Amino acid sequence: MAKNFPLKDPVAPVHWTGRSLKVLDQRLLPHKVVYLNCSTPEDVARATKSMALRGAPLIGCAAAYAMALAARRDGLRGMEKAAPGLLKARPTAVNLAHAVSYMLVEGRQVAEAKNFADLMERTAGRYYAEDLLANQSMAKLGASLLKKRNCRVMTYCNAGALATSGLGTAVGVIRYAHHLGKVERVYCCETRPYLQGSRLTLWEFMKAGVPATLITDNAAAHLIKSGNIDAVFVGSDRIAANGDVCNKIGTYGVALAAKRHRVPFYAVAPVSTIDPHCPRGSLIPIEERSPEEVVKIGSCRIAPRGAKAAHFAFDITPRDLVGAIVTERGIIKPVSRRSIKRILHAI
Ligand code: MRU
Repeated sequence: MAKNFPLKDPVAPVHWTGRSLKVLDQRLLPHKVVYLNCSTPEDVARATKSMALRGAPLIGCAAAYAMALAARRDGLRGMEKAAPGLLKARPTAVNLAHAVSYMLVEGRQVAEAKNFADLMERTAGRYYAEDLLANQSMAKLGASLLKKRNCRVMTYCNAGALATSGLGTAVGVIRYAHHLGKVERVYCCETRPYLQGSRLTLWEFMKAGVPATLITDNAAAHLIKSGNIDAVFVGSDRIAANGDVCNKIGTYGVALAAKRHRVPFYAVAPVSTIDPHCPRGSLIPIEERSPEEVVKIGSCRIAPRGAKAAHFAFDITPRDLVGAIVTERGIIKPVSRRSIKRILHAI
C-alpha cells in the first residue's frame, strides 16, 4: 500500500466497547453523528433490520459481535438461540450468515473452555480485522484495473467505510486509485429510496478530499453514454457461484448501460460475499422493504396518500455484464463458475 494512505476512516460505523457494540446510526447521516448502544444480540438485529447499520460486510461484522454478546449472556446455548433472530434481520447479504456460522463453528470447538466468552469476543475481533485486511487488499488490486491517470469513475449505493470495517470495497478502490493519481472524479448515484449514494458515499468522498459529483440515478446511463466514464465500481451483497452479482436496486441498469457503451463494470467484494451454495443469481432472496420508504423521502411524503408502491431493495446483474470481480484473494476475470471456484479454494 502506498505511504500515507489511511486504512480506516476517522468515523467508524461500529465500535466494540467490550460490553456492547456502539453502532453509528446511518439513518441520521450526514446531518447527525449519533451512536446507538447495542448491548444484546437482539439490539444488533434491530439496528440491522432498521438500517441504522447496513452494508454487507458491516452487517457480517456486527453479527459476529452480536454472537459474542450472546456468548457472554449464555455461552454456546446463547449463541445458538441468538442465531435465528440475527439471520432474519436482513435476507440478502450473505455476509450475515457467513459471520454467524464463523462464530458458531469456532464456538462449538471451544465450547468447554472456561474463558468461552472471552474467546468468542476475540473471534469476533478477528472477523472484523480480517475484513479490514480484505479491504486493503481489494483497494490495491482494484486500483490496478485502471491503466491510466485521471480516470472518471462511477459508483452506486455505498460500498465504503460505512459499509465495512475499513475504507470499503468499491469506495476503497476509488479512494486508493485517487491517491495514486488514477482517479480525477467520481460520480455517485444518489440511490433511491434510501439515498446511500447522496447521504453516505458523497459524504465519505467529500471528507476524504476525493472530487465527487452527485447525480440522480436516472442520469447514470446518460453520463455513461456521453463517454465521460472510464469505469464503474460497485459493491455486492451476494455473489452466486456462477458469478451473478446481487447489489443495491438499480445496479443492473447501470451495468446494462456500461455494457452497451463498452465501459468496464467491476464488482468489488470480499470472498465472504460469495455464496458457494447459491448456484445462480435468480436464487438469491431479494429483500422487499416497506413501500413507506418509497412514498416518502425521509419524513416527507412525495406520493399521494394511499398510493401503492413496491420496494425491491436489490437486483441481480448477470455475470456476462461483469468485467471482473475484485476480491482480497485476487481478481476474478473472466467471471465464470470455474474462476469463482478457483478463488474460493485459493488460500
Ligand atoms: O441496503 P444496504 O444499504 O445495506 O445496501 C448496501 C449495498 O447494496 C452495498 O453496495 C453492498 O452491501 C456492498 S457494501 C461494501
